[in-house]
Amino acid sequence: MAVVLVTGGAGYVGSHACKALAAAGHTPVTYDNLSRGHREAVQWGPLEVGDLLQKERLAEVIARHNPVAVMHFAALAIVSESVSHPERYILNNVEGTRNLLDEMKAMNIRRLVFSSTCAIYGIPDTVPISESETAKPISPYGESKLRVEQMLSLRKESDGLSSVALRYFNAAGADRDGDIGEDHDPEPHLIPQRLECRVGLAKPYSLW
Ligand SMILES: NC(=O)c1ccc[n+]([C@@H]2O[C@H](COP(=O)([O-])OP(=O)(O)OC[C@H]3O[C@@H](n4cnc5c(N)ncnc54)[C@H](O)[C@@H]3O)[C@@H](O)[C@H]2O)c1
Repeated sequence: MAVVLVTGGAGYVGSHACKALAAAGHTPVTYDNLSRGHREAVQWGPLEVGDLLQKERLAEVIARHNPVAVMHFAALAIVSESVSHPERYILNNVEGTRNLLDEMKAMNIRRLVFSSTCAIYGIPDTVPISESETAKPISPYGESKLRVEQMLSLRKESDGLSSVALRYFNAAGADRDGDIGEDHDPEPHLIPQRLECRVGLAKPYSLW
């Protein structure tokens, strides 16, 4: 059974990944700055509070836990916020990932699952969108994720990195046991927004 570093493991998707890893007999080590995630969502392995931009902290955590692989969910992920604050997104998502890849290389960790996004497609030429659709992001958020995908491809040659990038669309739903669920404030995603509207809880989320 393996130790897996889960960046963003206190967030919505990352915490569900931690639960699935533990169910499969692995130990998920969450690395999260808790800027958008929740301490109480980390239930299936240790929580290491830290930021991707803190290289020394990241290096210390990786060295201590010695993971065999990394699942990388940590990111800022609100399209409208990225339009208002593009540099924040490039710094956090791109430079943060560069730090992660540098520390993985230093520790000889070669396997990475990257949480990319459908936002790299922008406005597609054809619908339904196929994986071979040209990436033309129209937001700094999508651009930041595309830059990371390009970095991963380069690191295959330079570092021997083996990675996959999952370009998923709006995730929805909660853990069937009710242990964890989606808890964003404000809530930027389509499906929970529609549900909040339906029960009269919708509130404006363009707070930036
Ligand atoms: N939720 C979706 O529908 C969806 C769809 C496509 C892609 N994604 C991607 O999946 C990932 C997870 O999405 P989510 O909805 O769970 O988001 P989330 O905001 O719930 O989780 C992200 C986590 O990353 C942490 N984080 C952010 N920047 C960090 C940093 N610099 N250092 C350490 N921790 C940091 C946050 O505190 C948070 O816990 C993101 O990369 C997002 O781009 C999500």
